[in-house]
Amino acid sequence: MRAARVIALWAATIACGCSGNQSALDPSGAPALHIEHLIIGIVALCSVIWLAVMLVLGGALWRRRQQDETEIRQRQLTVVVTAAVAATAIMIAGMTVASFYTTRGIGLPEKASITITVRGQQWWWQVIYAGSSETPGFQTANEIHIPVGQDVHVRLESADVIHSFWIPSLAGKQDLVPGRSNSLLLRAEKPGVYRGQCAEFCGLQHSHMAVMVIAEAPADYARWIASQSADANPTTGPDVAAGRAAFLAKPCAACHTIRGTAANGTTGPDLTHVGSRQTIAAGLVETTRGSLAAWIADPQTLKPGNNMPMVPLTSIELQDISAYMESLK
Ligand code: CUA
Repeated sequence: MRAARVIALWAATIACGCSGNQSALDPSGAPALHIEHLIIGIVALCSVIWLAVMLVLGGALWRRRQQDETEIRQRQLTVVVTAAVAATAIMIAGMTVASFYTTRGIGLPEKASITITVRGQQWWWQVIYAGSSETPGFQTANEIHIPVGQDVHVRLESADVIHSFWIPSLAGKQDLVPGRSNSLLLRAEKPGVYRGQCAEFCGLQHSHMAVMVIAEAPADYARWIASQSADANPTTGPDVAAGRAAFLAKPCAACHTIRGTAANGTTGPDLTHVGSRQTIAAGLVETTRGSLAAWIADPQTLKPGNNMPMVPLTSIELQDISAYMESLK
């Protein structure tokens, strides 16, 4: 009874990893689907081979007990070895062909309708949307919006060390290498929030380098592009106004940009619409006024080693700046 419970718990734990918004076994985009088919095909084939090897091994051991070694006929042995070599060659060729078709399926199409540049930073994702004839370009961080049902070309670059961009539910995995530009096809077939994670050890906070891909209907995506490309539009209120003044007077403005203000630093993430993002600090905490205040008050305790220094602020300044950040929707 106890063993059955342990097995059930074990199976449930394994199965948990098969679904969710960050799983290569729960694909929601064409590239991820191609990869899932390849994974299942190769695992199934290897399982059959393993089973066959175990059966042959068991049979050999059993026969060894029954017969004398000299009785094993030479001719039988030759047939078995030849068949095994031929089967191995056929299966390797089969897996090579399957891998080739998968690679072709996840490759970039001739012309993707949207191109987004993602630049790896220690330890956050800089996301750059090039402008079009209708809207100016803009930058955001750790959150990528894409329209469903469209091919998106993600251009991957790095500012410092090698990172790896991986949204398991939507696409394959690709490195971001300093000094060069890599490409990846991203595509979502259904709306949703898909989580990704840096997949290459890149330093102290590698594990806190998450990225969210929000796939939405084309009309919602167009609305999002329009709001993000606009200058900052904070809500009104005395604390927000005071927070804006404090932000611009303190060193914050030297590292961050808020479009529509004098803040135009480029070291840290663009904060023009920081309040509209689901999380701050690359997926570390949800964006709330409280989490913003905690982050600004002591970023090194929340994410040791990151590049944001602790700026001395009075408690009133801290509250006001947090209110201003939250208002930047
Ligand atoms: Cu970036 Cu690991």
